[in-house]
Amino acid sequence: MTQHLKVDAPDHESRLDQMAQGVLGEPVSRSEGQHKITGGATYAADAGAEGMAYGVLVQASVSAGRVTEIGEVPGVLAVIHDPRMLRRAAQGMSTEGPDAGPQQVDFMGQSVALVVAESLEVAQAAAHALQVRYEARQVPVMPDAVDPEVPEDKQSATGDLDAAMRDAAFRVDQVWHTPSQAAAAMEPHAAVAQWAGDCVTIRAGLQMLGFCREQMADALGIDVGQVRLLAPYVGGGFGSKLGINAEAVAAAIASRQLGRPVKVVMSRPQVFDLAHRRSETTQRLRLACDSNGVLSGVGHEALVSNLPGSEFSEPVTQATPFTYDAANRQIVHKIARIHRSCAGSVRAPGEAVGVTVFECALDELAEAAGIDPVELRLRNIPEMEPGTGRPFSSHKLAEALREGAERFGWADRVAPRARLEGEWYIGMGVASAVRVNSLVESRARVTLTPQGRAIVETDMTDIGTGTYTILGQIAAETLGLDLAGVDVKLGDTDFPRASGSGGSFGAASSGTSVYLACAEIRDKIADMMGCAEAGLTLQDGTARCGNIVRRLDDIIRTPLVGDGHLEPGKTEDSVRQATWGSHWAEVAVNRWTGETRVRRMLGVFACGRVLNHKTARSQCLGGMTFGIGMALTEAMEHDPRDGHMVTRDLAEYHIPCHADVPHIEVHFLTERDAYVGPLQAKGLGELGICGAGAAVLNAIHNACGVRVRNLPATPDKIIAELEI
Ligand code: MOS
Repeated sequence: MTQHLKVDAPDHESRLDQMAQGVLGEPVSRSEGQHKITGGATYAADAGAEGMAYGVLVQASVSAGRVTEIGEVPGVLAVIHDPRMLRRAAQGMSTEGPDAGPQQVDFMGQSVALVVAESLEVAQAAAHALQVRYEARQVPVMPDAVDPEVPEDKQSATGDLDAAMRDAAFRVDQVWHTPSQAAAAMEPHAAVAQWAGDCVTIRAGLQMLGFCREQMADALGIDVGQVRLLAPYVGGGFGSKLGINAEAVAAAIASRQLGRPVKVVMSRPQVFDLAHRRSETTQRLRLACDSNGVLSGVGHEALVSNLPGSEFSEPVTQATPFTYDAANRQIVHKIARIHRSCAGSVRAPGEAVGVTVFECALDELAEAAGIDPVELRLRNIPEMEPGTGRPFSSHKLAEALREGAERFGWADRVAPRARLEGEWYIGMGVASAVRVNSLVESRARVTLTPQGRAIVETDMTDIGTGTYTILGQIAAETLGLDLAGVDVKLGDTDFPRASGSGGSFGAASSGTSVYLACAEIRDKIADMMGCAEAGLTLQDGTARCGNIVRRLDDIIRTPLVGDGHLEPGKTEDSVRQATWGSHWAEVAVNRWTGETRVRRMLGVFACGRVLNHKTARSQCLGGMTFGIGMALTEAMEHDPRDGHMVTRDLAEYHIPCHADVPHIEVHFLTERDAYVGPLQAKGLGELGICGAGAAVLNAIHNACGVRVRNLPATPDKIIAELEI
């Protein structure tokens, strides 16, 4: 029997709050943490196999066109240029059939061949020496060089925004620009492929194994059942490992051809080129309000880019329709088809840049209206979802703003340029945080052994987020075991298919499937005890029904197995599901150099049940740190002549480093969201970045009076506007 749940109705029961073990939600350290920091946990690039050969990807040196000739190099095992492998350059690009003809190039840096040799060094040298000839095409690489696509289903309008703008007491009409950004996961993309007969096993860095398995089968022209993927440890993904990348397909094709294991590891510059980027955005915000600061008009126009034919386009305005009320609205979404590297999901696609810019615009409106920015936000929070009239599954924005203001000391904020300490202007900024929430189908198997240990098996991944730990906590809580009594096995497509890690849906989706599997085991134990499940208490390895107390290892003779299967249901549509929060930043801006230092940050978040306060906090810290990056440092620069990425290592692509990140406080509002099922937990992996950069940018304005709308706010842009 499988315990199957389709979430068609809210679950108000809070069953997990009635469990006795008391481990769920606790801030326990990651169960695999010691294994990781002592080097015991190996990643794909660490993996080896008997007789393994090494492959190095060769990248296109033209922006578009086709490969006409691939030369030969001595001393190598093979030069592979199968169009199928090479089209799989990034997520969203479909593979072509085996007779696809000559290799098409869509961006400079795309993989066009794999050189395989006995050693990495020989493969690298040969990859350098390999001559590739192209028939090149002249193509646009700048977003404003083309007439963008305007897909009908991505536009919407209600009321009359122009009239609202005209009649407004106060208004903002400005344009912002955010640059391309990289996921910049620490672990480079890597794969080791090995065939046994018709079946291939690939160890790789991947976020969503079930999805990747389908992509891989498609790329190799074999059945899903012939592909086994392993990703027990993944050193960050941030979207760049949602789908398979060139290195994994290349390794699989080379291994099949050579009849031996092949490893392919991307160099850091290749990771920048070949893992998809977040599109740059140009956003025009039009906001209109009356004399009380009540919004009458919201206009959000976005221009993003991607390769011709790529499905993904950065959903910049995703949260705009429902975050604030306004009778007159207009959403515009345009896509420039240009030949930069493929754009895809990176760290909260949509809200990360959309909410950030929106929240900067709101700060400008608050200034224009002479209303405190917190107060302005509070005056515009809707009761029901604007447009649809649907209820919110929960709406904690007001509470997050009020609690944050209190905790941060917002009352001490003064006017721009009014607080100068030495040569530093000090200012504070606020922004709302919002991110859509959803569940994804997920399965898990849990086995309770006669020794009273639980084994959780699912092809879910832990990409550094804490999945091993929280799934262990859910099983421990539900089965009445301590955490050490649960073995969590992840990252293997031989296990039941989970949601995978992405879109903040992993913890709630896979967590619910584990809960359901454990619920089935609880039923079996209750049967053995002769009582109803509702009257069963499991704690510290014992089962209790009324006056009867038995040790689990006494009553279980053969392993008890539970299979959990979660499916999203009607509550995906019957309510608007989202997570909420508020961001607060205090910055110092140097009056002579324009340098910004973030002095402190604080975030208040509401995401339903918090499964582990330590790993949850870490997720939010990471997101807020990305917010600092978005506001101050991160920019992927493209050469305007050929679109190639100029900033393709971690010295040139500036992720905030330790010295850039101040003390950050994270607080969670106590919340249960019944509309996401019995776990009552929503996603929080991406909430921390949504709007965080706006708090920093708004704080810069509050400090020194400068608005930077062309991100990031590097010193040159600030000093250009600073009044001495
Ligand atoms: Mo996420 S950008 O869906 O890993």
